[in-house]
Amino acid sequence: MSQPITVKHLKDKKQKGEKFTVLTAYDSTMASLCEKAGVDVILVGDSLGMVVQGHNTTVPVTMDDIIYHAKAVARATDKVIKMLDMPFMSFAYPTQAIDNAARLMQEGYAEVIKLESGIHQAQLIRDLSINGVPVCAHLGLTPQTIHKLGAYSKRGKDSQEAQQILSDAEQLEQAGADLILLECVPAELAKKVTETVSVPVIGIGAGRDVDAQVLVIYDILGASGYIPSFAKNFLAESDSIEGAIRLYVESVKNGHFPE
Ligand code: KIV
Repeated sequence: MSQPITVKHLKDKKQKGEKFTVLTAYDSTMASLCEKAGVDVILVGDSLGMVVQGHNTTVPVTMDDIIYHAKAVARATDKVIKMLDMPFMSFAYPTQAIDNAARLMQEGYAEVIKLESGIHQAQLIRDLSINGVPVCAHLGLTPQTIHKLGAYSKRGKDSQEAQQILSDAEQLEQAGADLILLECVPAELAKKVTETVSVPVIGIGAGRDVDAQVLVIYDILGASGYIPSFAKNFLAESDSIEGAIRLYVESVKNGHFPE
């Protein structure tokens, strides 16, 4: 049996210029197919609120929801890294954030926790990091703030916001973030962040010049009702779900996706 993938492996891949893949999964069957198809990291994302629970936003997702789905994913996998989202308002103040991160690690078997971030989370990331919690800092479009933002639009389009995202990535790396995730930012900005920080950068709607891609599994299966412009229906070119996931993995690794 091959060894479990670790965050250290992802960092080594960045050093070697090898791309890796992240895909969401929320249940045992899909998680097992992801692992068989060669996905490196499964994200139990709060996108489950929209694609599994049918909400309009990710805001209603709770800690218990993430843990419920993460347990199902963990039962079916022993090789991929399990990355779990901290849901809306689960990390609003330090003691709550630390307690909830501990729950994700101990009850949900998280190996990395992801939080929608900004520079205001530097101290929290430092505290988590020194306590042995691998962290992915999610920058750019942060869907949990949709009611403040008003729309799911691209971030970092003007130079001031782009500079802020770059500076946040650098400072959060210094605070101890092990991974950076950039959602819906211009490709040139994602490239600059990827070249500037030494930790791996995972992109979604952030172009090809990043270290890894992440997508929502139902988007690559053409099952979400509509396909976001940055995603692709890989099932249209495969005869099975496992084949579609494998094609996504290969297309990221050989640079054919995103186009
Ligand atoms: O919750 C999620 O699935 C995510 C990805 C879309 C990056 O955060």
